[in-house]
Amino acid sequence: MTSTAKIVIENQETELPIIIGSEKEIGIDISDLRSKTGAITLDIGYKNTGATKSDITYLDGELGILRHRGYAIEELAENATFLEVAYLLIKGELPNIAQLSEFETNISRHTIVNEDMKNIFNAWPTGSHPMGQLIAMISSLSSFYPESIEPNQSEDVKELNVYRLLAKMPTICSMIYKKGLGHPFIYPKNKLDYVSNFLNMSFKHVTEDYAIDPVMVDALNKLLILHADHEQNCSASTVRLVCSSNANLYASIGAGVAALWGPLHGGANQEVIEMLEKIKADGGDVTKWIDKAKDKNDPFRLMGFGHRVYKNFDPRAKIIKKACDEVLNKLGINDPTLEIAKKLEETALKDSYFIERKLFPNVDFYSGIIYRAMGFPVEMFTVLFALGRLPGWIAQFNEMRMQKQPIGRPRQIYSGYTLRPFVKRGDRKASAK
Ligand code: SDX
Repeated sequence: MTSTAKIVIENQETELPIIIGSEKEIGIDISDLRSKTGAITLDIGYKNTGATKSDITYLDGELGILRHRGYAIEELAENATFLEVAYLLIKGELPNIAQLSEFETNISRHTIVNEDMKNIFNAWPTGSHPMGQLIAMISSLSSFYPESIEPNQSEDVKELNVYRLLAKMPTICSMIYKKGLGHPFIYPKNKLDYVSNFLNMSFKHVTEDYAIDPVMVDALNKLLILHADHEQNCSASTVRLVCSSNANLYASIGAGVAALWGPLHGGANQEVIEMLEKIKADGGDVTKWIDKAKDKNDPFRLMGFGHRVYKNFDPRAKIIKKACDEVLNKLGINDPTLEIAKKLEETALKDSYFIERKLFPNVDFYSGIIYRAMGFPVEMFTVLFALGRLPGWIAQFNEMRMQKQPIGRPRQIYSGYTLRPFVKRGDRKASAK
């Protein structure tokens, strides 16, 4: 393999270094392109552009491979707990028993939030979207813990910032859910494991006892692992870009939550259920809706289908689809939208439009069916995605800092007016815009 790429601009040949990743991915390093040629590259949506080298997650979209620090997602989902995967992503290795116990203990010490945070919740109008609340609550941690803003933090403070965020995220997410119900908040119980604690804070009513269902714990543990990281997706790239300005952890993660909210990204899991409900209400004619998704004049897209990187099955979707049947059977729930989802998938995967464009179900296609079976409303689905993605965002943030990368500042190709003289107010014609 040659170690350089040649680019010829107006008969001027320039060689650029080629870098090869540990999985043999090929990258052309264009760091010196502009200084050598005066030209930049243009790649709308960064479909062909690598923003960084990273050791955290590897995915192969053609083969449907996803690994975290070298471990296959299938093995992690089957054998690990969410906190084990969080440790793996953030620290780089799976913890041994003592390390995991210390990690869990450190997190358990920070599960309650400052009581003043309730005052922020009181300000939210009834029915305000949970993702808007989550963005604000995460960012507000920098106000409650000002040491997190200090520019030259000790390693202990950096670690404390991470423990506080991992510990308070389930508490904040359950408070958002309770706020939506108008119910009193439930405090964390540190004798419970991470997932059980979240389910207890979410579903225990202040007047009743709550029996934690191991089926729900296992399903949520698996779902959180499947959402834990996904290399340079839109929200992780947002976290890294904000981090690159030396903004603090809580501000950077809050920005990632904002990016995740979009219906083309993490917001898709809410859109999928709303789409399935619409198809069910319309009589369940999946062919009609597949045709709408193919029609360029129709804004309807098959939500939960397609992916920027996966041009094969999203391995996470396969695992979630299997878990759907198991969880609904164990919970004794018959959800007709699951059958509609399966019919949509079956019909689409035989259709040339989807085959030619390599559109397959992604992580969001089935996840909402399980979240709903657990009792969460659709507005909470992307909050649950964020709960799972948190350790991945933290790992990406830490890697950015360790790599000491410069502030992210893309260039552009200007396509507006060239120089023109100022026109006095009285001489201006009405502008077309
Ligand atoms: C996530 O990046 C990540 O890793 C994200 C994520 C993560 O873990 O972080 O995996 C999580 O965000 C999953 C994706 C959730 N979004 C959705 O399910 C929304 C529906 N999907 C799409 O809007 C779309 O597929 C995207 C946004 C996911 C990807 O869009 P791309 O890569 O920009 O592809 P594109 O929009 O250019 O589509 C290529 C073609 C187009 O048709 P043509 O112009 O070639 O004729 O495929 C069509 C699109 O119209 N197409 C779809 C479609 N998705 C793509 N047509 C109908 N239904 C769809 N869902």
